[in-house]
Amino acid sequence: MRLTKYFLPVLRENPAEAQIASHRLMLRAGMIRQATAGIYSWLPLGFKVLRRLEQIVHEEQQRAGHIPLLMPTLQSADLWRESGRYDDYGAEMLRIKDRHERDMLYGPTNEELITDIFRSAVSSYKDLPLTLYHIQWKFRDEMRPRFGVMRGREFLMKDGYNFDLTVEDAMHAYNRHMVSYIRTYERMGLKAIPMRADGGPIGGDHTHEFLVLAPTGESAVFYDRAVTDLTLGDRAIDFADRGQVSEIVATWTAPYARTDERHDAAEFAKVPEDRRVEGRGIEVGQIFFFGTKYSEPMKAVVVNEAGERVPVQMGSHGIGVSRLVGALIEANHDEKGIIWPEGVTPFHVGIVNLKQGDGAADAACEALYAELRSAGLDPLYDDREERAGAKFATMDLIGLPWRITVGPRGLANGRVELTSRRTGESEEMSPGAAIARLSDIYRGHLDGRPAA
Ligand SMILES: Nc1ncnc2c1ncn2[C@@H]1O[C@H](COP(=O)(O)OP(=O)(O)OP(=O)(O)O)[C@@H](O)[C@H]1O
Ligand SMILES: [Mg+2]
Repeated sequence: MRLTKYFLPVLRENPAEAQIASHRLMLRAGMIRQATAGIYSWLPLGFKVLRRLEQIVHEEQQRAGHIPLLMPTLQSADLWRESGRYDDYGAEMLRIKDRHERDMLYGPTNEELITDIFRSAVSSYKDLPLTLYHIQWKFRDEMRPRFGVMRGREFLMKDGYNFDLTVEDAMHAYNRHMVSYIRTYERMGLKAIPMRADGGPIGGDHTHEFLVLAPTGESAVFYDRAVTDLTLGDRAIDFADRGQVSEIVATWTAPYARTDERHDAAEFAKVPEDRRVEGRGIEVGQIFFFGTKYSEPMKAVVVNEAGERVPVQMGSHGIGVSRLVGALIEANHDEKGIIWPEGVTPFHVGIVNLKQGDGAADAACEALYAELRSAGLDPLYDDREERAGAKFATMDLIGLPWRITVGPRGLANGRVELTSRRTGESEEMSPGAAIARLSDIYRGHLDGRPAA
């Protein structure tokens, strides 16, 4: 993409309404624009990041054996009357009437709808296990929408639902989700810690939330520092292997880590004092096992091997995809702007032409641009007639992890400059060497992209 052809409405001033860094930076970097309270348009740069996160979520869900589908945003109230949640959900549910005076709602979550799909098609244990998921917009009429996309009213969520014959099978699904989530967040360059939490309106006692540590987080958290040293990395995981998956879960859940609702001071006191941490976190996901809470009232039953009709064992599992964009920025920024991790960056590298209109500089930038693209990379070329300082400020604000600076002086020696946004360190090298270096850096982030 060439900046003169793009739509990147950056703001020079700090917007007064933004209280935290991610909200401020998303507005300033032209990623989002508020449509109305708690509802945002995703401008091109923000939309690219959102799409990238969706892609990672799809890849990791499908790697775990979970199957994508797409359910609508609008639902009929009738299904929610079957589960009893139409009355229970309260003011957070946006209720709508259609022209025939039928009660509708904008889905805050999808347990009822997926259970209805399941029961319409599955009646035998032979069709289990089954986990279906989608990535779809949700609406919750939050009392206080705030912090931009972190607590919106309309927000994008991945929600997945497992259907199993036995509690043990459903626990394996729970564990599979935990491991796939750990891997998803790691690929995004985030450390999200599974913590014991409360069920809320989804229900169920067996639940973990995933929290990204950040001083601006809305949840108070208590944890053993040892949990922050754990990494999954790219070890091979066989998601069908119950032993391997539950061993990873056991490792991650052994250190004390709880949100305030589940905090137990006596238990926490057993953690060695130098490892005890009280902090704040952003909830970026939650997994639940709730058994037959929906399958029983909604009659989602299968015939088991003995020929008996039994309600299926279920769980649901959510990732806050749009909230993650904010959480990523909270965890990765400095006073100049955003610093995207390589796994989620909207463009892989920025090209800054120090002297637009100079024949040699323009030609070198065009050549770099073309070669980066043939190497499978996605560059953003700042081809504006602007001062170098202004171009650097824009690149720093939008946070591309790498920048190649091209100017007549360096070119005279066959050199361009490759700069890391994170460290600020620059290195001079030939354009070919810069392309080779970037290909190397991004290798692990470019492979394995199955279609959703
Ligand atoms: N209002 C919101 N805006 C953006 N993301 C949200 C919002 N509410 C929930 N999410 C995201 O969706 C994920 C799954 O939804 P879940 O039902 O667990 O939310 P929740 O526990 O009600 O969230 P919270 O406690 O933050 O209100 C959450 O972990 C969070 O990342
Ligand atoms: Mg939650």
